[in-house]
Amino acid sequence: MSIVILGIETSCDETAAAVVENGHLVRSNIVHSQIELHARWRGVVPEIASRSHTERILPIVEQALAAAGVTANDLTAVAVTHRPGMIGCLLVGMAAAKALAWRFGLPLLGVDHVQAHVHTGLLADPAMPLPALALVASGGHTAMYRITAPGQSERLGTTRDDAAGEALDKGAALLGLPYPGGPSIEQAALTGNRAAFDLPRTLLSADSLDFSFSGLKTALLYTLRPQGTAAPTAPPTGQRLADLAASYQEAVVDVLVTKIRRACERHAVRSLCIGGGVARNRRLRERLADDPRLRGLHLVLPNPTLCADNAAMIASLATVAWREGRTAPLDLDAVATPESGGKAKVRP
Ligand code: KG4
Ligand code: ZN
Repeated sequence: MSIVILGIETSCDETAAAVVENGHLVRSNIVHSQIELHARWRGVVPEIASRSHTERILPIVEQALAAAGVTANDLTAVAVTHRPGMIGCLLVGMAAAKALAWRFGLPLLGVDHVQAHVHTGLLADPAMPLPALALVASGGHTAMYRITAPGQSERLGTTRDDAAGEALDKGAALLGLPYPGGPSIEQAALTGNRAAFDLPRTLLSADSLDFSFSGLKTALLYTLRPQGTAAPTAPPTGQRLADLAASYQEAVVDVLVTKIRRACERHAVRSLCIGGGVARNRRLRERLADDPRLRGLHLVLPNPTLCADNAAMIASLATVAWREGRTAPLDLDAVATPESGGKAKVRP
């Protein structure tokens, strides 16, 4: 019999619901982004985000059920992101999921948002040969995992300071480009020269699989405003802006690709997949597809809609938990940190 799971995701600034059948057939995937609400603050404001989730969550769930052509009675279970994220935001999705589960007598499944990004490769390509290396690069997290089985992975390295998306968001702010920075830097970079500015690639020690992006952001600041000059300069324009955006994006992508190569050389993997908002980046996808040192690997570049925050990845990973009988109690807690531990990262 089919397993039909309703997924709910509200951990950050996307209100999302999706229906996924048997772990990989996406019957609906509805995402409402709050970007416009937060753009003037250049980051997600937790209170504004959770209020907006409260207004949107039920209509979004109804839309997801209708688009999938199912009713609550057709569902096997309800899955929800319960970690990591902004607590107020998580609680909205969890309240909706718990109410639906209770009302319709359905099991509840709690999902880790970062693990769902890790799992995106298997959602996009269920036949992906394992073990696989997964890069998760988003606004709050940048880490590499080795997936050994669906729902099972070990973390190989993580960022020691900023996430890749955070570096792009902060870089865009310095360049006077709109939030979110990843897409606006990508757009500005289209007509730029990637080699125009010599920005640093922080690779840490020769064997490290960790990331560090804070130095890059500082280097961009000093390129724009040389040390010793206190007054802020006007944001760059024209070709200089395009060249800065292209050089900055290339530095971020270079670090990601170099670390992926290192991880693939050191750990036995048969596939490579990516997830998280930064995985939408076309330059990163092009570099991974063209890299001769990665050619032997089965490469999974999921559809960009599955890379950014969405609930299909939540429902998909929850299917694994359901098959293993790992349901959650109705008093499931919201947790700020990811499963693998580490410090909570809340965007300003
Ligand atoms: O996974 P996501 O949607 O939310 C988090 O869990 O953080 O990722 C959002 C991040 C933002 O930092 C945004 O600037 C970045 O993903 N991003 C991109 C692109 N689209 C979104 N970065 C590079 N290129 C893109 N096309
Ligand atoms: Zn995310």
